[in-house]
Amino acid sequence: MTEQAEKPFLYVVVCAAGIASGVGGLITGAQARNWEVGVIATPVAAGGFFDTEAVAAQTGRPVRSAWRTPADPRPFPPPDAVAVAPATFNTVNKWAAGIADTLALGTLCEAAGLGIPVAALPCVAGALAAHPAYRDSVARLRGMGVRFGEPYNGEARPDGSRPDFGWERALDLIEPL
Ligand SMILES: Cc1cc2nc3c(=O)[nH]c(=O)nc-3n(C[C@H](O)[C@H](O)[C@H](O)COP(=O)(O)O)c2cc1C
Repeated sequence: MTEQAEKPFLYVVVCAAGIASGVGGLITGAQARNWEVGVIATPVAAGGFFDTEAVAAQTGRPVRSAWRTPADPRPFPPPDAVAVAPATFNTVNKWAAGIADTLALGTLCEAAGLGIPVAALPCVAGALAAHPAYRDSVARLRGMGVRFGEPYNGEARPDGSRPDFGWERALDLIEPL
């Protein structure tokens, strides 16, 4: 068995929040904790919210965003865990509603049913997080076993700095397997 095959496989699902440009830090942290990583981005996130080429080089695998055709092989092995970071308002609500019209959402909708750990780090502004649909979505996903990180609104402090997103919290939440 190769060293690669012995490692558990983590799907990192990336949504279109501004903070997504820092996802390389999550991948570095996951690899340091012995995860093999494959990245699945929402179509909007893949369209300029992070450096997909750098992430592909870092993971050694293409960033996936579109569905494969039936004839194509599965590019990633099955997941041992899934981390969605950052998780947007849009994706959290669609995921909770069972909408699977993108590869990222299909992956998330399926994950809970696989019985594997699923962690979500939302990045949602306070005004959106106050929407009752969002509160209901988070409660529904929690009820499905999704492990949520602390709320993060992405807003700058008065001095212009932003609080640390705490990417590695996603890894803490999925461990132990
Ligand atoms: C620069 C920029 C930053 C954004 N940041 C956020 C964010 O932090 N959280 C969020 O929920 N939406 C954010 N959005 C809006 C989402 O990109 C938008 O709702 C999109 O439809 C989300 O798609 P996705 O959930 O499929 O990734 C941002 C949009 C832009 C243009």
